[in-house]
Amino acid sequence: MFSNPVLDPGAGVWFSMRPMQLIDGKAVSARVLEECKGQVDELVNKGCRPGLAVVLVGDDAASRAYIRSKERACNELGIHSVKLELPVETAQEELLAAIASLNVDADIDGILVQSPTPGHIDEGAVVRTIDPAKDVDGFHPENVAKLVLEDPGGFIPCTPLGCQRLLGDYGINTKGAHVVIVGRSMIVGKPMAMLMMAKGMLGDATVTVAHSRTVDLPAVCRSADILIAAVGRPEFIGSEHIKEGAVVIDVGINRVKDEGAKRGYRLVGDVNFDAVSERCKAITPVPGGVGPMTIAMLMSNTVKACRQRRGSGAGD
Ligand code: GUN
Repeated sequence: MFSNPVLDPGAGVWFSMRPMQLIDGKAVSARVLEECKGQVDELVNKGCRPGLAVVLVGDDAASRAYIRSKERACNELGIHSVKLELPVETAQEELLAAIASLNVDADIDGILVQSPTPGHIDEGAVVRTIDPAKDVDGFHPENVAKLVLEDPGGFIPCTPLGCQRLLGDYGINTKGAHVVIVGRSMIVGKPMAMLMMAKGMLGDATVTVAHSRTVDLPAVCRSADILIAAVGRPEFIGSEHIKEGAVVIDVGINRVKDEGAKRGYRLVGDVNFDAVSERCKAITPVPGGVGPMTIAMLMSNTVKACRQRRGSGAGD
């Protein structure tokens, strides 16, 4: 699959096309969404329509775009979708009260408060207020503990879960591989490390978590068989970070100014795609890599929440 020799008619010699595979997040996410659609239909037939509430505080443009995509996915799958848009000046107590009422809303199985929230909001308190059984983001301490304990009943954050699914669907072996994760966030880096080191088919890796204080980051990254970039800095990872033949998962979605683009910006990842794709065996593009997977795994977590909350009569 990686060597695809073609005849160069000009030179009259054989050469290899770039030995690189694109990891297509759109195709894999479509498969995940298809699986979810079947499960939603089954639940609806039994009288349970899964429900997801997405809460946005403020008017961050990128967050608005994300929640629109989440709403669209819900509509396509037949998931009941509630969007709560609160003004930027919303007080912490008001937000917690809104979450408390979603916690007791029987039609809502999943609650997601879009991050980042405005500076005056204590995100830790927000996360602890969400009922762990509805915490489809997997950020509540109870779900964090379940991930660490490898308890399959917990919720796993959607982005790392999506990255793991991409690796699995492309047959990329993590067992015994050295996985280097760049970034130590609660949303991606830490849960990604837990998933990769967990026992089993899609784990069993040796994991290094690198971050802004890591000494000689390029050398650490060059020791990776699988490099997962979640730094939030446009095109930060270059060819000097890549071992020949590594697999690269780019979690970054950064807007960079581009006067020529229709919207005045374009999306780039945390990886310099052109430079890195010269050296790696497989890579996720941006857009069309990890991004669509995050939304698909959110739908999957919402279906799981519905099944778990509403009992075995609801599709298990
Ligand atoms: N902001 C960026 N990614 C995420 C996510 O996975 N969940 C939430 N709630 N906010 C985010």
